[in-house]
Amino acid sequence: MPTTDEETQTSNPTPRSGATGTTLLKLDGVTKVFLTDEVETHALSGIHLDISQGEYISIAGPSGCGKSTLLSILGLLDTPSGGSYSLKGTEVANLSFPDRARIRNREIGFIFQSFNLIGDLTVYENVELPLTYRGMGASDRKAHVLEALERVGMGHRAKHLPSQLSGGQQQRVAVARALAGKPAILLADEPTGNLDSRNGEAVMDLLKELHASGATICMVTHDVRFAQHADRTVHLFDGRVVEDRMAA
Ligand SMILES: Nc1ncnc2c1ncn2[C@@H]1O[C@H](COP(=O)(O)OP(=O)(O)O)[C@@H](O)[C@H]1O
Ligand SMILES: [Mg+2]
Repeated sequence: MPTTDEETQTSNPTPRSGATGTTLLKLDGVTKVFLTDEVETHALSGIHLDISQGEYISIAGPSGCGKSTLLSILGLLDTPSGGSYSLKGTEVANLSFPDRARIRNREIGFIFQSFNLIGDLTVYENVELPLTYRGMGASDRKAHVLEALERVGMGHRAKHLPSQLSGGQQQRVAVARALAGKPAILLADEPTGNLDSRNGEAVMDLLKELHASGATICMVTHDVRFAQHADRTVHLFDGRVVEDRMAA
C-alpha cells in the first residue's frame, strides 16, 4: 500500500486543518456479531461511514453502543461479520491475519485508554518496537523515534521506563508510538479516560495540534469538551449511526 502521500503530507511545513475530500476509509453495511455462551450480541448493525484524509472525527454514544468495536474494526484489530471496509481503495474486511497485521502496522496508529506501553522497555524502545516489526533499518528507526518523541515533547525522557512517568507523560509516549510510523489514521479510544483533567487537556491539545498539521484522527470520547475539538461528530446507538454532524 502506498504511503508516499502520507509522508509528503506529514513533512509539509504548512499547517492546515480540515478534510481534503479524498476518501481514506469507507465502511459499507458493516456488522459485528459476538457469540458467547450461545448468546448473540449484535455490536454493530449496518454501519456506513466515510472518513476523508485530514478529518478529525469524534465518536460518541452510551456505554455498550459499539464504539470500541467500531474502532477495533477500523484499526484492523478485528474483522467485521458482514459488510465492506475499504482502506485507501483496498478491500480489507476479509484479509488473513498476517495481511491485516502488516497493513495495520503501516496504516494505523492506535492510542488506548490504558496507554498499553510495555513496562520493561524504555520510552525509546516502546516507540521503536512497531518500526522494528515493520523491518525498518536502524538509522531510519532512530530518526522516526526521535522525531515522534520531540513532536509530543518527550524527547528528554527517552531512557525512562513507563513506570517512571506520570500518566499524562505515558499517554504522550503512546501518541509518539502511534505517530512514529506515519500512519494514514490515528485511532484513539477514550485517550483521556485514565487521566486527570489537566493531563487530559494536554493530550487533547496534542491531538488538536497533530490534526492542524495534517493528521487524520478518529477518536472515541465521553467528554463533550474534547468532542468539540473535532470537525465532525458521529453518534452511535445500539450499533447504528444515529447522527453524523459537521461542527458549526
Ligand atoms: N469480545 C466480545 N465478546 C462478546 N461481546 C462483546 C465483545 N466486545 C464487545 N461486546 C459487546 O458488544 C457491545 C458493544 O461493545 P463495545 O463496542 O465495547 O461498546 P462501547 O465501546 O460503546 O462501550 C456490548 O454489548 C458488548 O458487551
Ligand atoms: Mg468502549
